[in-house]
Amino acid sequence: MLNVTDVTVTYQNAVRALRSVNISVPDSGVVAVLGSNGAGKTTLLRTVSGTLRHHGGRVGAGSVTLDGTPLVGRDPAAIVRLGLVHVPEGRRIFERLTVEENLRAGAAGVRDRAAWTRARARVQEMFGILTERAHQRAGLLSGGEQQMLAIGRALMSSPRVLVLDEPSLGLAPKVVGQIGEILREINRQGTTIVLVEQNAALALSIADTAYVLDLGRVSLSGPAAELAASDAVARLYLPAGDTDGTSGGTGERPVRTAAQGNEGGRRVDAEPSLGPWVPPRRPSGWPWQRGRSPRDGRSRGNGSGTKSLSDVRTRG
Ligand SMILES: Nc1ncnc2c1ncn2[C@@H]1O[C@H](COP(=O)(O)OP(=O)(O)OP(=O)(O)O)[C@@H](O)[C@H]1O
Ligand SMILES: [Mg+2]
Repeated sequence: MLNVTDVTVTYQNAVRALRSVNISVPDSGVVAVLGSNGAGKTTLLRTVSGTLRHHGGRVGAGSVTLDGTPLVGRDPAAIVRLGLVHVPEGRRIFERLTVEENLRAGAAGVRDRAAWTRARARVQEMFGILTERAHQRAGLLSGGEQQMLAIGRALMSSPRVLVLDEPSLGLAPKVVGQIGEILREINRQGTTIVLVEQNAALALSIADTAYVLDLGRVSLSGPAAELAASDAVARLYLPAGDTDGTSGGTGERPVRTAAQGNEGGRRVDAEPSLGPWVPPRRPSGWPWQRGRSPRDGRSRGNGSGTKSLSDVRTRG
């Protein structure tokens, strides 16, 4: 279990990016962290993965523990060895290296040969495209493929906890759906996931529990289905008519979604889909292959079944 307890973070001893944040992530769970630009989502992930100090930040108060082991003060490599791996925003793959070399880099700290072989087989099964492109320079992959590589590289150290920073960012809607399915599959295989997203529809369709960060504080938390059904979250974070995070929507939103494209000055890939990502073992086909939303039939709550925010636990 990953626990963030009363954590306060500042950058350059001035900008307070997190204020008494409490988050708990149960084993094998999926926790989504939502919030607008600058809310502190990336800071939270840097804090748990030990990369905060590389960005000029420090934990001023509170603790982070993984199964009771304190993480604050440990370096990122030690935290990877403890089983927590961070897929940073913007993928950060090594563009000049081949796909295979990127994957090997993800397993740099793995000493156990059998574990290495298992991890490599898992990545190969999950991302056939990476095997096809094994000897191609990673920089030549499409944006979606690069995101797959970033996730595959993270899986090479067989993490118990995978934390991802906006994996859907800048990707075409269809690819966003595929990323969603891949994250579900990774979780089904037993890996705990912390998913930071501005694409709330996607995140809430995957997560069991969700937290909303607002100016460095947790403003809302609760079961993902309840948050998805709450008017405030729907108004702020879910585009009208979007049930699976893969449609663009037209409503005015204070946050960007993957399908909103260049907003925020970040690149959007024009690719229509990733092509042959073949999910392992699922005979009846996948929701996105059947052309329907994985959340079809689940109410998002604009109608009579709407839950009010008072149903959702609020934290100050
Ligand atoms: N390296 C840094 N140095 C100084 N301030 C920073 C740094 N990184 C982030 N901040 C500040 O910390 C606050 C939280 O930023 P953070 O990047 O965690 O937000 P976010 O929720 O990830 O936003 P976004 O949705 O834009 O990615 C913001 O006020 C931001 O300006
Ligand atoms: Mg961020």
